[in-house]
Amino acid sequence: MRVGFVGWRGMVGSVLMERMLAENDFADIEPCFFSTSNVGGEGPAIGKPIEALQDARDIESLLPLQAIVSCQGGDYTKAVFPALRKAGWQGYWIDAASTLRMDDSALIVLDPVNLPVIRDGIARGIKNFIGGNCTVSLMLMGIGGLLREQLVEWVSAMTYQAASGAGAQNMRELLQQMGAIHGAVTDRLSDPAAAILDIDRDVAAALRSDALPQARFGAPLAGSLLPYIDSQLDNGQSREEWKGQVETNKILGAGQPLPVDGICVRVGAMRCHSQALTIKLNRDVPLDDIHSLLAEANPWAKVIPNTRADSLAELTPAAVTGTLEVPVGRLRKMAMGGEYLSAFTVGDQLLWGAAEPLRRMLRILIE
Ligand code: HSE
Repeated sequence: MRVGFVGWRGMVGSVLMERMLAENDFADIEPCFFSTSNVGGEGPAIGKPIEALQDARDIESLLPLQAIVSCQGGDYTKAVFPALRKAGWQGYWIDAASTLRMDDSALIVLDPVNLPVIRDGIARGIKNFIGGNCTVSLMLMGIGGLLREQLVEWVSAMTYQAASGAGAQNMRELLQQMGAIHGAVTDRLSDPAAAILDIDRDVAAALRSDALPQARFGAPLAGSLLPYIDSQLDNGQSREEWKGQVETNKILGAGQPLPVDGICVRVGAMRCHSQALTIKLNRDVPLDDIHSLLAEANPWAKVIPNTRADSLAELTPAAVTGTLEVPVGRLRKMAMGGEYLSAFTVGDQLLWGAAEPLRRMLRILIE
């Protein structure tokens, strides 16, 4: 299969390239690489010879491809995808951007959770396969076992989302903010006799100062948090919160819509999204059964015992970053009753939240 890659140099694209190399995916396809800015330049080192970079906006160059994998972003999808289909292109479009996600012509792909939906889509002639919102995908990777058994009446997800979800430049800005705050108090911090309230006053002044780098986030994230992600909708939800329910239901291909709602919050983690979940079960399922269902749902969901030591060791962004594991812990029945389950889950939003479902979708198509 001749597969074109667009946006392979960006953050999600780079993670995709790393994963494809690690899994030897390039051996089974004929890859060619595209660029919007460096046509004729050299593509990535993938362990076999490749042609020079072609123009990602040139429809004629894209037409011979059997599949296109795009991590280039929504503007590219909006500009190129309709023109390509209009020109009669029949290939598979695999995309990380949200542009086409809710389109009837597209499926949202997360095969450890919805392989039957994907297989059915391929059989029906669906050609557009889109990666889901990272928060949604990571939640479904974590609690897929309960959903598969149809034990869930509703889910409330309170999120703790990493800077990477906002982009590579935002990750840099988070670190610059951390540095600026530290820089404002470095001297006093190294003096054990300095009063903490004096230090704190200077930290607060640095956080509120116009000098704090905040062009990307528009507010201090380091030493603070941002209780609003993505754009504002008319119903009081943020767009990120709206995606929780619509994308979950589209991924599951659920007949009876599953209510999912909560508040999405940006915190100063680098690339792991965490979520505190309140899950309303439709019956009082014993906790041991819940552990088994969660652990057996897929090879990456990992049940963490609900102890302080295990939670701090294994259920944090620091523990999970750069790995494919999706630990789910803090599992207990809540004070509201036996049908109310609490859970906390963490996942790398660049892996299962972005790149991994795309490379696996390509594999499904070539097998
Ligand atoms: N919207 C997500 C976030 C990014 O801002 O964290 C990935 O879907």
